[in-house]
Amino acid sequence: MPELAYVNGRITPIEDALVPVEDRGYQFGDAVYEVIASYGGKLFCIDEHFARLDRSMKELRFPKVQVDEIRKAAADLFTKADFDRAGVYIQISRGVSPRNHAFPANVPVQVVMTVRKIEEKKPSVRETGICAITVEDFRWGRCDIKTVQLLPNVLAKQKALDAGCYDAIFVSNEGIVREGSSSNLFILTGGVLKTHPLTPDILPGITRALVLDICLEKKYPVKECFFDKSELYGSDEVFLTGTITEVLPVIKIDGRTVGNGKIGSAAITLQEGLLGRLKK
Ligand code: PDD
Repeated sequence: MPELAYVNGRITPIEDALVPVEDRGYQFGDAVYEVIASYGGKLFCIDEHFARLDRSMKELRFPKVQVDEIRKAAADLFTKADFDRAGVYIQISRGVSPRNHAFPANVPVQVVMTVRKIEEKKPSVRETGICAITVEDFRWGRCDIKTVQLLPNVLAKQKALDAGCYDAIFVSNEGIVREGSSSNLFILTGGVLKTHPLTPDILPGITRALVLDICLEKKYPVKECFFDKSELYGSDEVFLTGTITEVLPVIKIDGRTVGNGKIGSAAITLQEGLLGRLKK
């Protein structure tokens, strides 16, 4: 089966799928999205992803949407594509309508999905960890909503790549460490794992929640609290979490070595714990 796309009920190979130019996602970034990963032919955390998608639409006052129908369409598309390891991308825009900032009246949302095969991260990245840079967080005030307005994230990621690094970590102008360009962030400091609390400044990551749950199970001391760049630099371990990213250790930030410069045991254990949940 080729990689597939779905545009409002029409399924085609991805390269044949087209979206109308007046889709509000295209013209205004007026769209929300989710990325769901599959392992061994099963979509992982599908309930959580659709709950977050629903919340994103409600927060943005989208017209009422039958989320269950979209969920069924996503599951059918995934089954049709027939990949063991895939990423299902779901994007819902506030419809297609002549360009006007105001919400269109009585226009249905537009649903676009793709299913792509996931290539496993090069083992070297997981085994050696990654380098990151910090960047100023100049995103809007509702980073808890998963919208397609990702230009700051795109610029941050590219800045990291241009600096010879793998990813960028957003830091507020008061120095608070937020999250990665497409992941949440944890540090291990003084024997305690810390991650930014759920506020409008970060995405409530599904992997973040799983990792917190695994920490509870393993009785790791964990705290959802603010921490600044100096604490980040001085941590024993730093790792990113996300769908596709899973648990990814960071061993260098802004040219400074994290801990002993090797991937840490907390990250290794939590990655194993996460893989254990995937196989359940
Ligand atoms: N990104 N923070 C941001 C800014 C993200 O974009 C993501 C996910 C996460 C992690 O969330 P989760 O664990 O639910 O995947 C945190 C997706 C995968 C993306 O944009 O491709």
